[in-house]
Amino acid sequence: MRVTLCQAVLAFAIIINLLILYYVSRLQQQMLHRHRDHVQPSPRLLPSPLRPGITVLLREFEDFENYVPSVAKSFLKEKPEQPIVVAADALPYPPIVLPNVPNVQLVVLKPAPDQPAHVSRPENYVRTEYVALVPDGIKVDSTRQLDQMLEEFKTNQGQVQMVAAPVQSLTPLLCLNLNVSLKEWTAEYSTAPSSKLCSALKGDAVILLRTKDLFNFSAPLAKPLLTSLFIQMALRGWKVRILDVSFSSAHQPLLSSSHNQWKADNRAKANRVQLFRAFGIKRVILEDGKEQWFGCSKETPRCFGTIHDDTPEYLYQNRWTPPCCLKALRETTKYVINILETSGVRYWLEGGTLLGAARHQDIIPWDYDVDLGIYLEDIPNCELLRNVESGSIVDEKGFVWEKAIEGDFYRIQYSEHNHLHVDLWPFYPKNGMMTKDTWMDHRQDIEFPEHFLKPLVPLQFADFTALAPNNYRRFLELKFGEGVIENPEYPNPALKRLEKN
Ligand SMILES: *[C@@H]1O[C@H](CO)[C@@H](O)[C@H](O)[C@H]1NC(C)=O
Ligand SMILES: *[C@@H]1O[C@H](CO)[C@@H](O)[C@H](O)[C@H]1NC(C)=O
Repeated sequence: MRVTLCQAVLAFAIIINLLILYYVSRLQQQMLHRHRDHVQPSPRLLPSPLRPGITVLLREFEDFENYVPSVAKSFLKEKPEQPIVVAADALPYPPIVLPNVPNVQLVVLKPAPDQPAHVSRPENYVRTEYVALVPDGIKVDSTRQLDQMLEEFKTNQGQVQMVAAPVQSLTPLLCLNLNVSLKEWTAEYSTAPSSKLCSALKGDAVILLRTKDLFNFSAPLAKPLLTSLFIQMALRGWKVRILDVSFSSAHQPLLSSSHNQWKADNRAKANRVQLFRAFGIKRVILEDGKEQWFGCSKETPRCFGTIHDDTPEYLYQNRWTPPCCLKALRETTKYVINILETSGVRYWLEGGTLLGAARHQDIIPWDYDVDLGIYLEDIPNCELLRNVESGSIVDEKGFVWEKAIEGDFYRIQYSEHNHLHVDLWPFYPKNGMMTKDTWMDHRQDIEFPEHFLKPLVPLQFADFTALAPNNYRRFLELKFGEGVIENPEYPNPALKRLEKN
């Protein structure tokens, strides 16, 4: 086929047209990008090294009433280039109108499905070596305040990882000691012996720390902010020093109405519950000795699942029995023993429960149930045990009595919701030995001479006295092996061993 000149010219024109179209669209796209970058200066994906200086970080404020813009302005008035980051869980509503300068930025921590992940990561916005966590409503009186904090921080280097400048208010900033044991799911506050060197604070303060320390915490900006930071610091053995520098408050009280205060208090309470839940802290002892519980109760399910291979899930998490469970087990045991005693059923502490009583007069700190032995022939003396033959019973105190489906024994549950339990194992004497018909696949589940029960002896157990086999050391060594009292071990050492210091 021959190509005419006309056809060639036409083809050439089409190609030129396509090329022009391509360049125009490229240009448009580039302009669009530049425009978008201008609207939202998104942080770089690969952060540059931190530069000297301090970023002011505002994290805790209420959407419905806050002074975030005036706090920002107060810092900018002293130092117009002061970097300020406002970190909110979600886009604040009503909107917060921040000073329109590039060094003041709002981070929304909630990831948006149409945005890359780095947009919601606060560490991409704090690009200075130090960060000052600033409560809402404060006023800066001089440029020197933050600089002075930084100087003091450097002077105390190695001794403290954080410094705090109190916000002047009616209640002074309290210096506390905080002892956190994740193993025992417990945080314990007490009054610190020093008034300046603390492991936790109570009250409002401006906090200064290294940016890399803040963002190396597992939850750097969890709320309540200071509660969360001090728990994580206590776990690292870190300290905070209270400085003589202080800030004043532009709004005392911060919130203008009691209704807003009520809303803020409720939110703070909810945040606290959520924080302790996330950190796995179920028992908090306050500096005045009051206890707060964040764990299971009679109305909630047991806080660990079905046990596999005698090794409850918390042992794999390097934790012991949650304190609420130990408390519920002690309460159930005391209750059951009282019923057995008053109805004339002979019982004794059995297995691991006896071991705990012999070892330290309490439930073994990683145990998950309580075992009692009873005389089979005494069962008819107890109305509840007699009646469970025909189905489970919820008694007047909400405990659930039932005949176990796994064999000939009885189980008393803490409640219908919470299945923490005490097991009753009926034995009967045969040729001087105590025996039974249902055996579990446990080393300690064996026959034993009846003379251990004649007589039964009192033994301290938690806050009451229970009955135990006489000569219980020999009884335990017969069941578990020599030296069992002195050498604690987890129930299934083949799967999980107790770490000994
Ligand atoms: C902290 O708790 C642990 C474990 O409960 C305890 O052994 C230790 O003595 C406590 N330390 C202080 C200072 O209270
Ligand atoms: C972050 O913390 C871990 C342990 O908590 C520590 O080993 C590591 O050195 C820290 N990293 C930095 C950069 O501080």
